[in-house]
Amino acid sequence: MRVIVHTGKGGVGKTSISAATALRCAEMGLKTIVISTDTAHSLADSLEAKIGPEPVQLADNLWAQEVDARYSMDKYWGLFQKYMVALFSRNGVDDIVAEEVTILPGLEEGAHLLWINKYFNEGEFDVLIVDAAPTAETLRLLSLPDVTRWWFERVLSLTRGAAKLLRPIGRLVKNDNIPDEAAWEQVQELFKTLDRVRDLLADPEVASMRLVVNPEKMVIKETQRTYTYLNLYGYATDAILCNRIIPDEVTDPYFAMAKDRQKENLGLIGEAFGELPLLKAPLFGQEVTGMDALKKLADSLYGDQNPAEQMFAGKTHTIEQDEAGNYILLVPLPFAEKDDLDLYRSRDEITLRVGPYRRNIVLPYALWDLEIADAKFDESRLRIRFFEKRGEKQRAK
Ligand SMILES: Nc1ncnc2c1ncn2[C@@H]1O[C@H](COP(=O)(O)OP(=O)(O)OP(=O)(O)O)[C@@H](O)[C@H]1O
Ligand SMILES: [Mg+2]
Repeated sequence: MRVIVHTGKGGVGKTSISAATALRCAEMGLKTIVISTDTAHSLADSLEAKIGPEPVQLADNLWAQEVDARYSMDKYWGLFQKYMVALFSRNGVDDIVAEEVTILPGLEEGAHLLWINKYFNEGEFDVLIVDAAPTAETLRLLSLPDVTRWWFERVLSLTRGAAKLLRPIGRLVKNDNIPDEAAWEQVQELFKTLDRVRDLLADPEVASMRLVVNPEKMVIKETQRTYTYLNLYGYATDAILCNRIIPDEVTDPYFAMAKDRQKENLGLIGEAFGELPLLKAPLFGQEVTGMDALKKLADSLYGDQNPAEQMFAGKTHTIEQDEAGNYILLVPLPFAEKDDLDLYRSRDEITLRVGPYRRNIVLPYALWDLEIADAKFDESRLRIRFFEKRGEKQRAK
C-alpha cells in the first residue's frame, strides 16, 4: 500500500487536493481510501457525499472516512488513562485535574496514525490518501512517537518515586475492574503501533509527504519550515503542489499585479524546494466540490501521471550529527562548482547561491544560535558544519 500525506498551511487546498488525488487513483484502477481527521467534515463537502467514522464507498475503487479521534483514543489509551486517574486521585489530585494531565499530548491527532497502521496491516487498499491537518498539527503528529515516549517517561518517573504507592493502588484499581496488567499492556501496544507507523511513514517506498502551497510568500515561508522539519524527522517529501495559480487566460488588468506577484513567488518555490517536482493547479472560477470539479483539479495537477507513484527520491537537504555531536547540514548540489558558491546566513535561514541557482533553507530551532564552522564540498554535497560558540555556552551556565 502507498500512503500519500497532504499537508500545508490552513486553507491552501489540502482537502480538495486529497479528494481529487483519491479520485484520480481510483479512476486508474487502484483501490483507494481517503481519510481525514478534520472535525469540520470538509472532506464530505468536497466529495459532496455523506462520510462517517467508518469507511464509506463512494465510487468504484473509492472509499472515504472521517476518522473519529475519540474512538481511537479510548481504544488505545482509555484503560491506562483510567488507571492513571485512579493513581493521581489516590494522591489527592482532583479527578478533573487528573484527567487533564493524563490526556496524552497529541494523541487526538495521533488517531490518524493508528488507522494508517490498521490499513497497512490489512492490505485491503492500494493507496491511502491522508488529508492531514494544517502544518503545525501535522508536525506534532509526525513527531508523536518521540513526544509520547518523552511524556510517558516523565510520568513514569513521577510515579516511580511513589513505587510503593503503586502496588496498593494497583489493587484499588483492580477493585474498579481495571486490571493492572491490561492497562500496561495497552500502553505497550500503543507505543509499538506508533513506532510501526513511524517506520511506515519514514519509508519513502511506502509514504510520500506532499506539501500543498499557494503562490504566496507567507505560505511558501511557512511550508519551507515544515519541509525542514519533515527532513529532520526523516519523512520523505516528494512533491510540491501549488494550488490557485491565476491562469494565463485571465487578462483582466485587475489581476495583472496579482499575476506578476504569483510569477515571482513561483520562482521562490524553486529556491525553497530545489529539485522537488512542482505540480500546478489553477485558481478555478468557483469552489472545487463534487466529482466533476475534483476531476478537473486532478487533471491539471497530474495530467497522465499516476499520483500514487513516488515522484522524487532523495532529499534536497538533511541535517545530521557527526561523531563529535556537531550538527551538519548536507545539501546535495550535483552541478555546483566549488568556486561558484556564495553562502549567506541569518539566524534562522541559509541562502546559497551557486552560479545562477539560489537555494534558501530554513534552519530548525536547534541550529539558530550555532555558528558555521566551515562549509565544504564532499561527493557532490555541500557540508555545512555548525558549532556552539564557547562564549555562548559560558553565558548560558
Ligand atoms: N484551485 C482552486 N480554485 C478555486 N477554489 C479552490 C481551489 N482549491 C480549493 N478551493 C476552495 O477553497 C476552499 C478551501 O479549500 P480546502 O478546504 O481544500 O483547503 P484546506 O487546505 O483543506 O483548508 P483547511 O486548512 O481549512 O482544512 C474550498 O472552498 C475549496 O473549494
Ligand atoms: Mg481541509
